[in-house]
Amino acid sequence: MLEIVGVSAGYGGRERGRDVTAVIEDVTLRVAAGEIVGLVGESGCGKTTLARVVTGLHRPSAGAVRVAEVDVHALRGRALRAHRRQVQMVFQDPCLTLSPRQTVRQALAEPLHIHRIGDTRSRSTRVSELMDLVGLDPQVGDRRPGQLSGGQQQRVAIARALALEPRLLICDEPVTALDVSVQATVLNLLCDLRDRLEFGCLFITHDLAVISQLADRVAVMRHGRIVEQGPTGDVTTRPRHPYTRTLLAATPTMDIETKARSV
Ligand SMILES: Nc1ncnc2c1ncn2[C@@H]1O[C@H](COP(=O)(O)OP(=O)(O)OP(=O)(O)O)[C@@H](O)[C@H]1O
Ligand SMILES: [Mg+2]
Repeated sequence: MLEIVGVSAGYGGRERGRDVTAVIEDVTLRVAAGEIVGLVGESGCGKTTLARVVTGLHRPSAGAVRVAEVDVHALRGRALRAHRRQVQMVFQDPCLTLSPRQTVRQALAEPLHIHRIGDTRSRSTRVSELMDLVGLDPQVGDRRPGQLSGGQQQRVAIARALALEPRLLICDEPVTALDVSVQATVLNLLCDLRDRLEFGCLFITHDLAVISQLADRVAVMRHGRIVEQGPTGDVTTRPRHPYTRTLLAATPTMDIETKARSV
């Protein structure tokens, strides 16, 4: 589904064949259809930069990103718009994707409008389906983001990301701003949606406890490089890289199961 092969990227342009500010270096990572891969690492290590490279927003200085075997950075015009449909993002702050003036129903109908999918009636049906999919009460359909809880806002952002049936969902710290019990319900929702819709998911977080609840595989990033990757159970119980051990030691509650049961 997603193949990131030998990707390097930075900011500030390039001088003498090198990035002025190199941020990620030689990253290779794959996400299969229906798989959740966790990307974990400390603040500033380059996680969001990698997400921007995958969505096509930021051009890598080396390497390639392929989604469903198509090279993302070779696309232009109509093909690029089609790609944007297949890859959707959910951010830490749902207000980045939700306009304060739009109601929930308007926010969910907008991607369908933009991509000219269906007519007013079929869009309205689809919006109701999406709200049901993420467990939003039909009553909140006419509310605006300011009238929703943080958890509800994030459900709307997830529903909006799923409106176009993407093959790949990139979640950048989507539960970091939520309190622990709401975190667990949103994570359970994502797991459930992945099972039903079979999208691939790159889930970015600095919290290994979150990864251990959710991800099939995990990649550990440090200073822009992947230092270790493997099945989540292996990496969290038998970490090979000293940095992974440090991260594990710094994760106060690996008992996320307890969090999940408490809601
Ligand atoms: N637009 C930009 N211009 C210049 N440097 C940037 C830009 N965006 C990010 N950086 C730098 O790139 C590095 C990686 O940033 P990035 O946002 O990818 O980190 P991150 O792992 O997502 O961190 P966090 O966990 O805090 O979100 C940081 O040193 C940051 O200061
Ligand atoms: Mg980030």
